Amino acid sequence: MKFLTIICLLLCGLLASAQDNWVAPESAKEVVNVYSENDIATQKGAKMYQKLCWTCHGKTGQGDGPAGSGLKPKPRNFSLAEVQDQSDGELFWKLSNGKGMMLPYKHSLNEDQRWQLINFIRTFKK
Ligand code: HEC
Repeated sequence: MKFLTIICLLLCGLLASAQDNWVAPESAKEVVNVYSENDIATQKGAKMYQKLCWTCHGKTGQGDGPAGSGLKPKPRNFSLAEVQDQSDGELFWKLSNGKGMMLPYKHSLNEDQRWQLINFIRTFKK
């Protein structure tokens, strides 16, 4: 019985780590950000970010916020190419649908607000 439990735990661990690579669905890729390069929208996104997101993702988007330090996986560092190489649509989908400790923000923020946040995340690009 003990043996079975151990096998089960191992398998669960494997499944969990396989899911760590979070990929948005293909259909999200081409969704267009109507606020792209709109500075006012970016400023609005900045304000929301400093209220809602920095605790985990860090003030400068490095994934080093105080509430994120104990999380597995860690909040993403937005300056990395892995994040910035995704399209606005993919990041919007992730922000909307969430995963684990990253909550699905489609319930609390409207579409405009979510695009404004995506604009702001782009400012962390190196
Ligand atoms: C409670 C901590 C927490 C808060 C608050 C939070 N996030 Fe996250 N976020 C995470 C974690 C953890 C991940 C990584 C999830 C994973 O890969 O399993 C993540 C991932 C993301 C991703 C996907 C990055 C990628 O390339 O995979 C985006 C986009 C994102 N967060 C945006 C935001 C925005 C915008 C806010 C504020 C509205 C926010 N997050 C608030 C914890 C948080």
